[in-house]
Amino acid sequence: MISFEFTESQIEVLRMARELAERKILPDIQKYDREHKYNPQLMKDMAEADLLGFCLPEQYGGLGMDYISLGLACEELEYADTSARVILSVHIGLYSLPVCTWANEEQKEKYLNPCTVGDKIGTFGLTEPAAGSDAVGIRTTAVKKGDVYLLNGEKMWISLANVADYFLIFAWTDQDKKKARDHSGLSAFLVEREFGGVSTGDIYGKLGVRAGSTGYISMTDTPVPAKNLVGNEGEGFKIAMFCLDQGRYTVAAGSTGLIRACRDACVKYARDRTTFQHPIAEHQLVKEMIANMEASYEYSRLLWMKAGWKKNSGEPSTRETSLAKWISCREAEKAAADAVQVHGAYGFSDEYPVERYFRNAKGSSIYEGTREIHTLLQADYALGFREDKPLRVHLPVVDQG
Ligand code: CAA
Repeated sequence: MISFEFTESQIEVLRMARELAERKILPDIQKYDREHKYNPQLMKDMAEADLLGFCLPEQYGGLGMDYISLGLACEELEYADTSARVILSVHIGLYSLPVCTWANEEQKEKYLNPCTVGDKIGTFGLTEPAAGSDAVGIRTTAVKKGDVYLLNGEKMWISLANVADYFLIFAWTDQDKKKARDHSGLSAFLVEREFGGVSTGDIYGKLGVRAGSTGYISMTDTPVPAKNLVGNEGEGFKIAMFCLDQGRYTVAAGSTGLIRACRDACVKYARDRTTFQHPIAEHQLVKEMIANMEASYEYSRLLWMKAGWKKNSGEPSTRETSLAKWISCREAEKAAADAVQVHGAYGFSDEYPVERYFRNAKGSSIYEGTREIHTLLQADYALGFREDKPLRVHLPVVDQG
C-alpha cells in the first residue's frame, strides 16, 4: 500500500526542524554566510531540539524515529541554509548511522551514545587531497604495531573536521592491496581527536556553504587502539560506501528543501515586483521558471522518499539513493540559477537569499558523489552492469508509527 500521509511522529520531527530553522538559523544566516563563519551554537541548539539523534535507536540514546523523518528534517534545515543540513548529513548520515550499523557494542557505547545526545560530534574521513571520486586512490595507511595501528595521512574537504571529537577514518591496512588498488585492503577506524598526532584546520575561500565548517584532518603516526577497528580488516570500502548511502540520502532530501526555498522566494518576489506595468508573475517566461521549480520539487521529493521507504523496510537502497541524490542536486542547481534570474539585479546581491542558494547548490553536485559519478552509476544499473548486493549488516530497524 502506498500512502502519501505522514505519521504523527514524522510531522513532529518536521515541526521541530522547521521551528529550529526559523528561530535559530534564518535570523543570522546572512551574517554568518557573509563572514564565512560557522556558528558553534547551532549544533548545541540542534542537540537541545533532539535533532542530532532522533533517528537512532532508543537503546543508544536516540528517539528511534524512521528515515523519512530524517529526510523531512533535512528538507527543513536546508530550506534555511545548506550548512545546517550538512551537520545532519555528516553527524548522523556519515557517522552515527554507520557506527550504529557496523561497530560492536563496546564501540557504540563509547563512540555513538555521546554523539546521539550531542555531547560529542562525529565526522567521516574518506576524501584526500588527491582522491575524491576515486575512493581506492586514497593514500592514508594504518600499520599494525602490537595492539595499535599507526595512522598516517591527510583527509581533505571534511565537514566538521575542525570541531568533531571523533573521526571515522578510512586507511589501507594491506599495503600490497594498496598498490594493486584492491578495495579489500581498506579498513575503517574510530579515531579520537585526542589520540596524538592528529591536527585539523578549516578551509577558507569556499564558493558556498560559507556558514559551514569544512576542513582537513592530518594524522602523523597516530596510535589507534586495535579495538577501534570498525567491522573486519578489509571491510573499509564497503563501510565507506554504506556511509555514503546514508549521507547521499540526506543530501537528496536537503537539496529538495533548497528547491522549495527557491520556489517560495520566487513566488513572493514575482507577485511583488512590477515591470512593464504588470507583476512579473504575469510574464510567461517567469511563470515557466516557477513551474519548473514546482515540478523539480515534487519529483525530487518523491525520489528521496522512495529511497527512505526502502531504508525503512531494511532493503538495500544504494540505487534509489544515488538516483535521488543525482536528480535533486541537478534540479537544485537549475532552480537556484533560475531563482537568481527571476530576481534580476536583486538576485545578484545578497540582499535576497537566492544568490546564497545559487552558491550553495553548486557544492551538492560535487560532494558525496559528483554529478558524473551518479550519472555513470545510474547508466550501469540500467544496463545491468551493476546491482546492489545484500550486506552482512543492516541499518537499525526503526519505528514507523
Ligand atoms: N554499500 C556496501 N557495499 C558496497 C556498496 C554500498 N553502497 N557499494 C559497493 N559495495 C561493495 C560491492 O558489493 C563490492 O563488494 P565485492 O568486492 O565483495 O563484490 C565492493 O563494494 C566494490 O564495489 P564496486 O565494484 O561497485 O565499487 P566501484 O569500484 O565500482 O565503486 C565508485 C566506484 C562508485 C566510483 C565509488 O568509488 C564511489 O562512489 N566514489 C565516490 C566517492 C564519494 O562519493 N566521495 C565523497 C566523500 S564524502 C564528501 O565528499 C564530503 C564530506 O564532508 C565528508
